[in-house]
Amino acid sequence: MFSFFSSGGQGKNEPSSFSSSAPAEFEPIEPPVSSPGPAGHQPPPLDFSKLQESHEKEGISGIANNLFTQVVLSNPYFAAGGGLMLLGTGLALARQGVVRASGLIYRQLLVDLEIPSKDKSYMWFLEWMSQYKNRSSRHLSVETNFIQHDNGAVSTKFSLVPGPGNHLIKYKGAFMLIKRERSGKLLDMTSGTPFETVTLTTLYRDRFLFNELLTEAKTMALKSQEGKTVIYTSWGPEWRPFGQPKKKRTIGSVILDKGIKEEILLDVKDFLKSGKWYFDRGIPYRRGYLLYGPPGSGKTSFIQALAGELDYNICILNLSEANLTDDRLNHLMNHIPERSLLLLEDIDAAFNKRSQTDESGFKSGVTFSGLLNALDGVASSEETITFMTTNHPERLDPAILRPGRIDYRVLIDNASSHQIEEMFLRFYEGETEKAKEFVAKAAELNVPISTAQLQGLFVYNKNDPDSALSMVETLKTPNHVF
Ligand SMILES: Nc1ncnc2c1ncn2[C@@H]1O[C@H](COP(=O)(O)OP(=O)(O)OP(=O)(O)O)[C@@H](O)[C@H]1O
Ligand SMILES: [Mg+2]
Repeated sequence: MFSFFSSGGQGKNEPSSFSSSAPAEFEPIEPPVSSPGPAGHQPPPLDFSKLQESHEKEGISGIANNLFTQVVLSNPYFAAGGGLMLLGTGLALARQGVVRASGLIYRQLLVDLEIPSKDKSYMWFLEWMSQYKNRSSRHLSVETNFIQHDNGAVSTKFSLVPGPGNHLIKYKGAFMLIKRERSGKLLDMTSGTPFETVTLTTLYRDRFLFNELLTEAKTMALKSQEGKTVIYTSWGPEWRPFGQPKKKRTIGSVILDKGIKEEILLDVKDFLKSGKWYFDRGIPYRRGYLLYGPPGSGKTSFIQALAGELDYNICILNLSEANLTDDRLNHLMNHIPERSLLLLEDIDAAFNKRSQTDESGFKSGVTFSGLLNALDGVASSEETITFMTTNHPERLDPAILRPGRIDYRVLIDNASSHQIEEMFLRFYEGETEKAKEFVAKAAELNVPISTAQLQGLFVYNKNDPDSALSMVETLKTPNHVF
């Protein structure tokens, strides 16, 4: 058994119990009295004569000096401990210095750009990155897209977008570190996906490249939508693209009665040019259009074709939707994506909800005053074009018809003989004689015929005008099933 303490009063040169190789003898272990240094080292005693000398030479400061030299410098414990302390402090200071310097360099030399997943450019950036060649990334995630071809067929495309983690790219000669992070806790309640951010870091001098990169990503994203109309529908409190962008419907494919299309188009185009005029006069820059008429007369189709013609997207909101409330309507109408027409379908729905709860137990949707407030409240610096449709104009309250809410009203009626002829010729090119015959036969029926009905008949007899002629009787029943 070894004693960890040397016995008291041992001389300097006596072996310590550690180093002793002699057989251990049992000796009473005495507790250390004072300064129990290992191996029995004692600090050197103070030399009072030297103190005296320095006092005589330099006075009190001499004593202090001498005392310090004797106690601290010539004391092995102090010397070793002090050395370690100095070393430790030095290292700590050096570490702090390195941290500060790197922070400073980071702040001075590097710039960050954070793109949160809520931002529109987020998807643009990921898509851009998935097609970018000069990158090194080992974490990929897949995104499946459906592509609609011109003939309407749909095929799937996988893009390997950068997954969460770090990625390095070289863009126009500059290195950029890209960090995609996923928040483990926060969920985007509308889509159920976790919130994410992408942080781009590059040298301060290359910061202008961020702008170039984002512009490139945006151009690429918009190119894929060229010739297409994006249809947005409401998704909780926000607008989300509904399916893939649709191929634009040509305005020529919608056949309205003489002059209607041209007039509306002229009015909208004139409105779009008059931004300054509105701002100069302090008038809210918005215009409301109401298209009313029987079902299947082409109201919705015309608005979609108009959006295509103007190169706008469409935000569709159906006011008869059960869970649409005044608040949501107001919020949605004030957050319309740029370059979009707002299409409010079935606005009469806001007028027949007298009771607060319908038979199925749903809380009533939009109220009349809610709709008026939302229409009045739209305060956007961009233009707001609202199209409204209804099959029951008689149910509308006069309050909504006042200018500022609805500035332009037009009846889109059942097919006139002019429309019937044009529809016939659109399906059977050059068959002018048969078209006239068809118009006469349809007139004899003496019933209102919707353009949707005509479309149904002509689609059924795709390449056979004679068969269409012989089936004209079917137009008597509005919902005839072929
Ligand atoms: N004037 C028209 N010209 C060309 N196609 C039309 C026309 N009217 C209707 N159609 C066709 O009929 C179908 C229904 O038309 P649409 O949805 O535009 O009618 P609507 O007036 O909006 O009806 P509803 O009042 O019931 O909403 C579409 O497939 C469309 O192609
Ligand atoms: Mg419609």
